[in-house]
Amino acid sequence: MSVHSTVRRISAPDIRARKGGEPIVALTAYHAHTAGVADELVDLLLVGDSLGMVMHGMETTVPVTVEMMILQGQAVMRGSQRALVAVDLPFGSFEESPQAAFRTAAHVLKETGAGAVKLEGGIRMAETIRFLTKRGVPVIGHVGLTPQSILALGSFRAQGRDTAEWPAIEADAKAVADAGAFAVVVEAVAAPLADRITAAVPIPTIGIGASPGCDGQILVMEDMLGLSERTPRFVKRYGDLRAHIRAAIEEYAQEVRSRAFPASEHTYAMRKQRAAGE
Ligand code: KIV
Repeated sequence: MSVHSTVRRISAPDIRARKGGEPIVALTAYHAHTAGVADELVDLLLVGDSLGMVMHGMETTVPVTVEMMILQGQAVMRGSQRALVAVDLPFGSFEESPQAAFRTAAHVLKETGAGAVKLEGGIRMAETIRFLTKRGVPVIGHVGLTPQSILALGSFRAQGRDTAEWPAIEADAKAVADAGAFAVVVEAVAAPLADRITAAVPIPTIGIGASPGCDGQILVMEDMLGLSERTPRFVKRYGDLRAHIRAAIEEYAQEVRSRAFPASEHTYAMRKQRAAGE
């Protein structure tokens, strides 16, 4: 007998159908607990390769491995039941050929149970996106600033702030859409260009450092919660978790040192002993 969950997950076609409609709410998630909190509030949870920098303190996303993505993808799937979960294909795991990309994507989807993958790159990745989508892999594209190219770019600078840069970035977004992606992340591009791309492509644009005119928005959860030490200018902090965590740990440390913790309610008493002959 098979057991089915009563909650239907949002699917890639559901997100695709949101073009021009109610804005898509997306956040990154790497853990079961944060995924569980966000699940009923967002449409899309992205297991981003930003986890290398955010969770592991790496300088860039370049060292992130497929195994890391699978481990956190599994955690996010366990912690959520409603939102669409998409997993990033990390640097070096998909660029070589469409076939290599398919092997990685299939491995990630089988191991995690996630509903989609995301991969960085526009025109240069269009053939790969077409190969994947024709074979049943739902793909989110990612254009504008593509952090996996940091070694070639030299810095995480915003894109398209000069109109001379616009045609190439717009062409990237169109190529991703033509190739069959069901949505495209548009990262760190000038707002008027993000609006132009949103008008030009038939799939939802999900902005990060882009424009309120995009079809949806995504942020790194730790950034918007105020847990990250440094954040790009496009991040709005909706919380101050770093200060809350610090205050809680300070209080704990002080109570351990003063022996105020653990109190009697946090310790176990002995069971009542039966008297002899009872
Ligand atoms: O890796 C990531 O978290 C991302 C989002 C910021 C879009 O790609």
